[in-house]
Amino acid sequence: MLIALLPGDGIGPEVTAQAVRVLEQVSTGLTFEEAPVGGAAYKAAGHPLPPDTLELARRADAILFGAVGDPACDALERSLRPEQAILGLRKELGLFANLRPAKLFPELADASALRPEVARAIDMVIVRELTGDVYFGQPRGLRMNAAGLREGFDTMRYDESEVARIARVGFETARTRRGRLCSVDKANVLETSQLWRDVVIEVAADYPDITLEHMYVDNAAMQLVRNPGQFDVIVTGNLFGDILSDQASMCVGSIGMLPSASLDAAGKGLYEPIHGSAPDIAGQGKANPLATILSAAMMLRYSLGQPAAADRIEAAVASALAGGARSPDLGGGMTTAQMGEAVLAALR
Ligand code: IPM
Ligand code: MG
Repeated sequence: MLIALLPGDGIGPEVTAQAVRVLEQVSTGLTFEEAPVGGAAYKAAGHPLPPDTLELARRADAILFGAVGDPACDALERSLRPEQAILGLRKELGLFANLRPAKLFPELADASALRPEVARAIDMVIVRELTGDVYFGQPRGLRMNAAGLREGFDTMRYDESEVARIARVGFETARTRRGRLCSVDKANVLETSQLWRDVVIEVAADYPDITLEHMYVDNAAMQLVRNPGQFDVIVTGNLFGDILSDQASMCVGSIGMLPSASLDAAGKGLYEPIHGSAPDIAGQGKANPLATILSAAMMLRYSLGQPAAADRIEAAVASALAGGARSPDLGGGMTTAQMGEAVLAALR
């Protein structure tokens, strides 16, 4: 099995290095091929997603991705900025279904931004649509308006096929869990969301066993801190899912804990922590590699057909945390490598 290793910028290389160690420990027959992506690729090859990197991603059985984003690139024209690499990979590879599980490891109840008794109940998956919405809608741009003022504009857009296919992923995911799906939208204001809601209701006819609920995104943000235990599976659009998943991460202790899988229609996937490149701590060994290690577990489960190895990694992370492994984001002093070491020790 060929794994495309795309470490990217900032803390990306540090956290992916630990995930590779863990993968090599639990699985045989994996070959890693590395390529530059993001700001690192811009510096090396003049583009955040060079053709060779995209070609490797297409050829690989799965992709392990670190993070992109580099303040030194913020002044570049948008098409050359590091973020275009991950957006381009998602679009080019058709990775429309983004699964972001948020579950509290009991040992981290005190690290949560919520009271421990509220945080303990968290066990949800956010299913985020990843290739549409205002992220990709046209037209968009910056222009001078009739009043002579600079104006920025973007287009929020979904067609019914895009909504239906992510809705199905939401329903199917709920079927493997507690059977409850909450569709998050802003149908009281947005036409895009009205279509979203109508289509989700149509698809629900095929899933009579699933309890479907609809929630406005502002209410969902509030409920996520008031009573997060009520959520089983949330399905939502690209922008709302981006925001709610960052919020969910702090509810389970740290943004350094949330993994993700981005899947195409056939189950091929890109796996990445939901956090960014954290340039402020890059290269200092302060980053928490657990989100990336847990993403590697998702890769074994969803793309490589090795669910037992995935279970072993998740159990090893739990046991490392139970043994007191804590990076600075979790209130401890362990380095990135020591955190990886703690997981490896638990695996042995
Ligand atoms: C994420 C990130 C990305 C996004 C950025 C880096 C483009 O925030 O994966 O959540 O907005 O999707
Ligand atoms: Mg985000």
